[in-house]
Amino acid sequence: MKRINIGILGLGTVGAGSAKVLQDNQAEIQRRLGCEVVVTAASVRDLNADRDCDCSSIDMLTDPFAVIERDDVDIVVELIGGDSLAKELVMQAMSNGKHVVTANKALVAMHGDELFAHAQAHQVAFCFEAAVAGGISIIKALREGLAGNQIELIAGIINGTGNFILTEMRDKGRDFDDVLKEAQTLGYAEADPTFDVEGIDAAHKLTILAALGFGIPMAFDKLIIEGISDLELKDVDFAGELGYRIKHLGIAKATDAGLELRVHPTLIPSKRLIANVDGVMNAVLVKGNAVGNTLHYGAGAGALPTASAVVADICDVVRAMSLDVSQRVPYTGFQASQVVERAIKLPEQIECAFYLRFEVADVPGVMSKLSAEFAQREISIEAIKQTEPEPGQESVSVIFITQITTEASVNEVLSTLGALPEVSAPVVKLRVEHFH
Ligand code: NDP
Ligand code: HSE
Repeated sequence: MKRINIGILGLGTVGAGSAKVLQDNQAEIQRRLGCEVVVTAASVRDLNADRDCDCSSIDMLTDPFAVIERDDVDIVVELIGGDSLAKELVMQAMSNGKHVVTANKALVAMHGDELFAHAQAHQVAFCFEAAVAGGISIIKALREGLAGNQIELIAGIINGTGNFILTEMRDKGRDFDDVLKEAQTLGYAEADPTFDVEGIDAAHKLTILAALGFGIPMAFDKLIIEGISDLELKDVDFAGELGYRIKHLGIAKATDAGLELRVHPTLIPSKRLIANVDGVMNAVLVKGNAVGNTLHYGAGAGALPTASAVVADICDVVRAMSLDVSQRVPYTGFQASQVVERAIKLPEQIECAFYLRFEVADVPGVMSKLSAEFAQREISIEAIKQTEPEPGQESVSVIFITQITTEASVNEVLSTLGALPEVSAPVVKLRVEHFH
């Protein structure tokens, strides 16, 4: 039986998980592919560390460049992370004629366009299903399953760590740092967890989804990025009382005035399916002009769910190795010649509804001052809530949920109202999406 040899760079959470899935499911994979798929070599930093896979028949090396030079490696699987060493390794592996599979969203979001061109030049495959939303086949769905559509909207919970933190805080009242530590122990978090909590990881993933959805170059530096680290439990609770859940979303929306590309905490009506995606689970809503709304759901992080996507890519490469693999399905699903720039909206041009929380002195007339400013800017209000003062406190929370307006209008209101002497703290501004 024909044998395909795999070299894995990095045998941590996802690397060991991928080796384990290839080992445990070897018989089933052979039935699907008609050939053996074997991990022949792997690189790690610490040869003495315990690994969550059987390393007895793998050549364990400390030099990742040695793996990509080997003649007995057909497919290189990059699972080190980061976008510097990983890029060097992937470029060199392709130059050596190796097909490449990666789960590294930072690498694809920052250097995808260059890597696609390099893969094409060397006629090798470059696959990254595991880079977005862990075990969910969202790359395949966008590139292939939805290829007949004009994509209108992609909106997803695409960071498992962040969703795990928000869920545990909301359901169990747990402390942010405590839940983040657990996410690290479970292998969900990035090597630098600020990427998870500051929205960078989700932004990398949204960059990739937008390239696939709209046929644009990678546009990471044009995204609006907000994380969850400043989110306060009281806003999660107030949102709940008003019938919403707060989720960290990546949103890529096509409008006549340009694309909206943004990553931020978002209020979603609690009856929407996506509002009920909890823990490490991810979900991506894709709206196509033919299919309407589709929702793709599954584990967004963790060893085996991510390995499932890595191994699926390996299977795709093996199946296609006798074909022109670089062109069988173009990297973003669009022909390279058809990747075009499109206008991407500036932050102040974004249109959506807003949740605004003011901490104000509990004195007569404040509410009318606040309301008057909204009326003057022609911003309609959907809901208002005012809390009772806490014992010993002189301020109360006043929450407005607006109807759809522009970010510029809201910012103008906030610059006036935020300066009122009665307003005692920075105004909390969150965006609301109804996904009708
Ligand atoms: P880990 O930190 O668990 O594993 C990284 C591996 O790479 C380790 O084996 C480590 O060696 C090796 N390594 C790290 N730095 C170097 C270096 N400078 N030179 C050589 N080897 C190095 O990371 P993950 O498995 O969690 O993540 C890997 C990739 O997968 C990242 O791009 C991540 O974003 C992505 N990803 C992760 C998911 C997850 O749930 N964890 C889900 C989806 C994607 P050693 O073990 O000896 O330290
Ligand atoms: N740190 C990432 C997350 C891993 O939590 O979603 C999966 O990409």
